Amino acid sequence: MNWDKSKALLERARGSLAGGVSSPFRAKAPMPLYFAGGSGARLEDVDGNRYIDYQLAWGPMILGYGHPKLAEAMHRQASLPFSYGAQHELEISVAEKIQAMVPCAERVAFTSSGSEAVQLVHRLARAFTRRDLILKFEGHYHGWMDSALISYKPSLEQMGPLDSPRSVLGSCGQVANAIENTVAAPWNRLDLLERTLEEHKGRVAAVMMEPVLCNSGCLLPTDGFLAGAKALAHKYGALCVFDEVITGFRIAPGGAQEHFGVTPDLATFGKAVGGGVPLSVIAGRADVLNMMFGGGVVFGGTFNGNPLSLAAADVTLDELARDGGALLREANRIGAGIRDSLRSLARKHGIPAQVTGFGTAFAIHFTGREELNDYRDTLDDNTDTLRRFLIAALERGVQIVPDGRFYVSTAHTEADAAETLDAIDRVLASL
Ligand SMILES: Cc1ncc(COP(=O)(O)O)c(C=O)c1O
Repeated sequence: MNWDKSKALLERARGSLAGGVSSPFRAKAPMPLYFAGGSGARLEDVDGNRYIDYQLAWGPMILGYGHPKLAEAMHRQASLPFSYGAQHELEISVAEKIQAMVPCAERVAFTSSGSEAVQLVHRLARAFTRRDLILKFEGHYHGWMDSALISYKPSLEQMGPLDSPRSVLGSCGQVANAIENTVAAPWNRLDLLERTLEEHKGRVAAVMMEPVLCNSGCLLPTDGFLAGAKALAHKYGALCVFDEVITGFRIAPGGAQEHFGVTPDLATFGKAVGGGVPLSVIAGRADVLNMMFGGGVVFGGTFNGNPLSLAAADVTLDELARDGGALLREANRIGAGIRDSLRSLARKHGIPAQVTGFGTAFAIHFTGREELNDYRDTLDDNTDTLRRFLIAALERGVQIVPDGRFYVSTAHTEADAAETLDAIDRVLASL
């Protein structure tokens, strides 16, 4: 595949844009590509190469690229002021739609990125419970803010023993006392969660998790874990918080809380809710969210409730809610077919691998392990094989997230799936 124009643009970008990319996560192998267009499930780069895309801008493009109703709504909205910094009716319309779709959403608030939404949830939980500690789980990602980037991708040595793990800072320059306000526990282990809550009795404000561990290989919760974790959080006087920035408006119209039937006290959403524009949401109990209005919790944001973002969300949510969530059901069905076929293809080629997750977000792990339940289980994954797999797939026109994750949109068709599997068959043969 020829990437000459991308190479030239990257060279030019490095002269002005730090690192040449807008997020260090995007500086990926074999090189960051420059894109020039896309429609449905396909993207085209500046060299004219076409890809079936499973990266979906890292999740947001749930309706695929160039969705006509979304484009029309954005055009319409673009003829009005881009921002008011004041109230407008779309705020109510979108909040009401989220309320109707998401079980925990007694009230909602709008922010612009998932990281911001997490910051607000941390603050609300701490204010509401008058406690300092956030209990999170190893390998879960809740954005890059100081208070959230803890024990995201630590090594085994950094984490220490499974039954008494250490919280690990994620970045140079992060305030060191972030770890004093955060407790990390292994996921999918109710016994260890209870032990941790007991150890920090009376101090934990929130038990927070990705309800499907999408950021460490799309691992599913074990039976009863979500309900058990919620019950334990409440037993110890803490709030239960789901970070649904990935699962939200993807696994089901009402997110993982609808899919698994466990309603948290608070939840964060981002990515898919805006269909590709910057928008994030905090949803949850009215008594907690109302702490921002007379309860002493300070919260702001110039772009909160931005009309362009909400115009996109309005259409995206209509599409996802239509016919009882038919579009997402179909996307999850097509995705589950690809996921299951990937497993069979790996077996056919004698390559030890697991494919974990749900239809619209799953990941391939090159590992000899039979079961993957927790971040620690993924540390045996063969990252060299993954790297070769990703590059070979890209060269055959299939773009996958650099950690082996596949996102599927409502625009992916059976024909896309068949073409993908044909390419992956050849990729696996070449490894
Ligand atoms: C589960 C989860 N929470 C929070 C975030 C942060 O969102 P953003 O990148 O919009 O700040 C992400 C981003 O990938 C995420 O996956």
